[in-house]
Amino acid sequence: CGIIGYVGHRESSPTILKGLQRLEYRGYDSTGIALLDGNIQVYKKAGKVKDLAAYIANKPLHSHIGMGHTRWATHGIPNDINAHPHLSNSGKLAIIHNGIIENYNTLKQELLKKGYVFTSDTDTEILINFIEDIQLYNDCSLEEAVRLALHKVIGAYAIIIMSEELPNTLIAAKKSSPLVIGIGKDEFFIASDATPILEYTDQVVYLNDYEIAIIKDGQFFLSDSKNVPLTPYIQKLDMELEAIEKGGFEHFMLKEIFEQPTSIADCMRGRLDIAQKSIKLGGIEAYINQLICAPKITIVACGTSWLAGVVGEYVIEEFCRIPIKVEYASEFRYRNPIIKPGDIIIAISQSGETADTLAAIELAQAKGATVLSICNVVGSSIARTTQAGIYTHAGPEIGVASTKAFTAQITVLILLALSLAQQRKTIMQASFEELIDELANLPDKVKTMLQQECKIKGLANLFKDATNFLYLGRGYNYPVALEGALKLKELSYIHAEGYPAAEMKHGPIALIDENMPVVFIATQDRTYEKIISNIQEIKARKGKIIAIVTQGDERVKQLVDYVIEVPATHEALMPIISVIPLQLLAYYIAVEKGCNVDQPRNLAKSVTVE
Ligand code: G6P
Repeated sequence: CGIIGYVGHRESSPTILKGLQRLEYRGYDSTGIALLDGNIQVYKKAGKVKDLAAYIANKPLHSHIGMGHTRWATHGIPNDINAHPHLSNSGKLAIIHNGIIENYNTLKQELLKKGYVFTSDTDTEILINFIEDIQLYNDCSLEEAVRLALHKVIGAYAIIIMSEELPNTLIAAKKSSPLVIGIGKDEFFIASDATPILEYTDQVVYLNDYEIAIIKDGQFFLSDSKNVPLTPYIQKLDMELEAIEKGGFEHFMLKEIFEQPTSIADCMRGRLDIAQKSIKLGGIEAYINQLICAPKITIVACGTSWLAGVVGEYVIEEFCRIPIKVEYASEFRYRNPIIKPGDIIIAISQSGETADTLAAIELAQAKGATVLSICNVVGSSIARTTQAGIYTHAGPEIGVASTKAFTAQITVLILLALSLAQQRKTIMQASFEELIDELANLPDKVKTMLQQECKIKGLANLFKDATNFLYLGRGYNYPVALEGALKLKELSYIHAEGYPAAEMKHGPIALIDENMPVVFIATQDRTYEKIISNIQEIKARKGKIIAIVTQGDERVKQLVDYVIEVPATHEALMPIISVIPLQLLAYYIAVEKGCNVDQPRNLAKSVTVE
C-alpha cells in the first residue's frame, strides 16, 4: 500500500491526489482520502486513483491537512468500504495504514465486548478504535494513546492518524513498513516513500521502527516508543523528478526497459575501471575479507530479485568456487535455517522494503550472521538494516514488473563475483580482463538489442492469443527462462512456465502440441549443442518455437519458427542481454491484450506485508 499525509499551506486534496498517483505502483485496488476542515471528511473508492479523483472532482473541498491511501488488499476484498482511511466509532479519528495487524482478532473481540461496531473487514479499523478506546479509558493525549496501543499491536504497520480535535496535527508511526517525512517550507509530508515528496522538498527523515512522529502546529517532533525525544536525522534526497516521470514513453515499463543501457552503465560507474582492469566495491569494502574466506554464502530474495540471485549463484560458484544457496526469503524465514555466527547472507531487493526479505534478514542477524544487501532504493529499510551493501543505482523503477532493476542486480552480482574471484585467485588474469572488457561493452550491446523492438512487437501480435507459454533455457539462461515466464504471467495473465530445457522432457513435454508456443533461450554457450537437441524434441512434437539466438546463428534458425538475435558476449554476462527480448515480448503481448502493464492486476511493486 501507499500512504501519504500532508499538512501545510497548500490545498491538501490535489496535493494528496498527486502523491497517491506517484505511490500508486505500491498498490492500486482501492483508494481513499481524508480531509480535516472542522470535521473529518472521508472519500473512498474501489479502483484507481483516477476513479477517486473523478469521484471528488466536483466536491467543494477545502483543507490544509489531510491524508490518502492507495491499497493492496490484505484483509477484506477491495471495495469502497474496505478502502482506507478508516474512522473510529466516534468519527473523530481517522487512520491510514500499510501493513498487517496480526493480533487483530484478539483486539476486535475486546472492542466488540465494549460495544464497538465495525463497518469494514479490515484490521485497520480495529486499530483506530483500539486507539480511541485507550484514549477514552486513560484520558490521555492522542499521542500517548497511539503509543500505548502500539505496545499491544503485533504485526507490521506504517500509520498516519488525524484527529478532529487536533486541527493542525498528524501523528505517524511505523514498524516494519516504511515511512518517510518530507520537511518543506511551512509544510510537511509523510509518505511510504520519497516519490510523492520529491517535487516539494529534498529534505527527508526516514522513520525507524517504533518511532513516533508528530507534526503539530508547524513543528516536527520525534520520539521513541518510551516517549524519549529523538533528534531527527535529516537527509538530502538524491533523486531527480524526471526519473519518476514517463518521459514521453507510453508506460513506465517501456521507459525502464529502454533505460537499461544507461542503468547498467550507472551501476558499473566508479566500480569498474577499464584502464586499470579492476573492480572496486566501496560499499562492502569492510567485508571483503570475510567474503573471500566465506565457506558458503546464502542469497535471500523474492520475485525477480530471487531470480537475479540464481544468476548470482551460477556466476559466483563458477568464478569464486564458493558454494551459494539461493533461498526464497519467505521460506528461509520459517524453515529454521542453519545459520551460524559469522555466516554471510546477501539480501537482494529492488525496493529494499519487501517484508519477507526484511524478516529473513532480521532472523539471520539475530543468529549472528553478517548480512549484506543489493538494493536499488537508496535509504530503504533493507539498505539501512543490513551491515553493508551495494546499491544497484538503476534509478527509480515504477513499473510493477521489474526490468532495469533485474539487469542491474545481475550486473552487481557479476562485479562481486569477479572481484572476489580475483582476490581468491580462482580466475585467470586473462579471463578476468576479458570479462572486464565485456562488461564495459554491455551497455552498447543492450542498446543494439533494443533496436529489435519492432520485430518483437510483430511476434507479440502473432502470439497474443496463446493461452500457455513455455520458456526453456540452460545454464546461465535457465534463470532467464524463469524470468521470461514470470514477466509474461505478471503482465498478460497468460499462464507461462519457465523450465530448465533438458528437464522439460521429464514432465512439461507432455504439454507440447501445435498450440504451445515455446521460447528457447539458445545463445551460443557451453550448452548450445545440448539445447539444439531440446529444440528438436519440441519440434518433433509440433511446438511453435521462438528462439533467442546469438547474432549470426544459422543452425537454430533452420530449426525454429522465429528467431530473435542478440549480440554475442561472454556466457556469464548473457542473461543481461538475453532477458531484454523477453521483457519486450511480455510487454508487447500485454499491450496487445489491452492489459495495464504498469499496474497488473493483483500485484504491487513493494510488498510490505509477509
Ligand atoms: C513484488 C514485485 C516484483 C519483485 C518482488 C520483490 O512481487 O511485483 O517485481 O520482484 O516484489 O521485490 P523487491 O523490491 O524485494 O526486489
